[in-house]
Amino acid sequence: MGIEITGWGKCLPPTILKNEDFETFLDTSNEWIVSRTGVKERRISHVPMTELATVAAKHALASADKTAEEMDAIIVATCTPEYTIPSSASRVQENIGNTSAASFDINSACTGFVYGLTTAYGLISSNVMNRILLIGAEKVSYFLDWTQRDTAVLFGDAAGAVVIENVDGDSKLHASKLGCDPAQGKALMLKNFGSNMKLNNLSIEEETNFFGLTFDGQEVFKHAVRTMAKLAKEALEEANLTMEDIELCIPHQANARILQATARRCDLPLEKVFINLDKYGNTSAASIPVALTEALEQNKIKQNSKILFLAFGAGLTSAAAIIDWGSRIQSIKKSRATLPACSKTGLELINQA
Ligand code: UT7
Repeated sequence: MGIEITGWGKCLPPTILKNEDFETFLDTSNEWIVSRTGVKERRISHVPMTELATVAAKHALASADKTAEEMDAIIVATCTPEYTIPSSASRVQENIGNTSAASFDINSACTGFVYGLTTAYGLISSNVMNRILLIGAEKVSYFLDWTQRDTAVLFGDAAGAVVIENVDGDSKLHASKLGCDPAQGKALMLKNFGSNMKLNNLSIEEETNFFGLTFDGQEVFKHAVRTMAKLAKEALEEANLTMEDIELCIPHQANARILQATARRCDLPLEKVFINLDKYGNTSAASIPVALTEALEQNKIKQNSKILFLAFGAGLTSAAAIIDWGSRIQSIKKSRATLPACSKTGLELINQA
């Protein structure tokens, strides 16, 4: 028995917020944002996060030609849930029409998809389950402080999903290296959200308007390059592979400079690194499944190739995983699932956030 990703899909909200839009209310410039991050624009969602997740999930199910009821588990990787309970996964489960699967969320921030992928492969390889729907979905725009130029320009909203299942053959997860450096947790932190809120003695108004993102960009930058390069090497070693065996690397899309520096450090040719952050910014746990879907749409993934996933995020977490791609690189079916239209501009949407 082998295990493969057999379906994939994405959902990008239609409303675009361009770098130039920030110039109208922040002391920043398109030139600064592009040269320091590589981001040109990002999407802002007019719907709740689980609606993005639902549309991406429907595309992934159609791509694998599977029904929602055939899924044994639904996992949503997110750090921007609508509720603490019920889980985001159970909301998506209801939306897609599954009535009995196991449903749970994973929060390791931007590494959530790779943590979820490792969990899903583990559950399937141990025969606990046969088919799992894994979704990375985020509505980061809701939590941003739009007056802070160092964070506001970085993020965007999106969702991506995959179906993972057992198949004939010997495709597998070759290696997965997951880690977390808790001593650095404060470098990227969303305070005032959760059961600590009342301890901070905030008024109701402050609680709802101020989530307080603690952010040390340079610390996260250094951690990202160091740990992704280290874990990539360790994963290759564990899998008994070299970088030459890797067809494509799909990294978390946070900053083009982070990806360039990581690639240099672990002898990964930049041509093998898939980058789409210019269009979407950092969409946290959604960034890898969206990039994976676009890599397939652009014929960047070959049959039976090896794919390396790399990620870092709040925690500070880090992740590297190597999988075999299967023999199918086209979706079996297409879904017509889409979001409702939005008549608002990006600036109008963030004024509501
Ligand atoms: O998925 C995990 C999420 N976290 C990340 O992805 C963050 C990783 N870190 C980064 O991507 C980079 O550190 C940043 C893009 C956040 C910042 O780039 P940097 O090259 O590390 O810039 P810096 O923090 O050293 O700031 C340089 C200058 C500062 O001004 P001074 O002190 O030199 O006068 C900042 O105040 O750039 C200023 N600055 C800006 N200027 C114009 C910070 N943000 C902006 C901005 N526009 N948006």
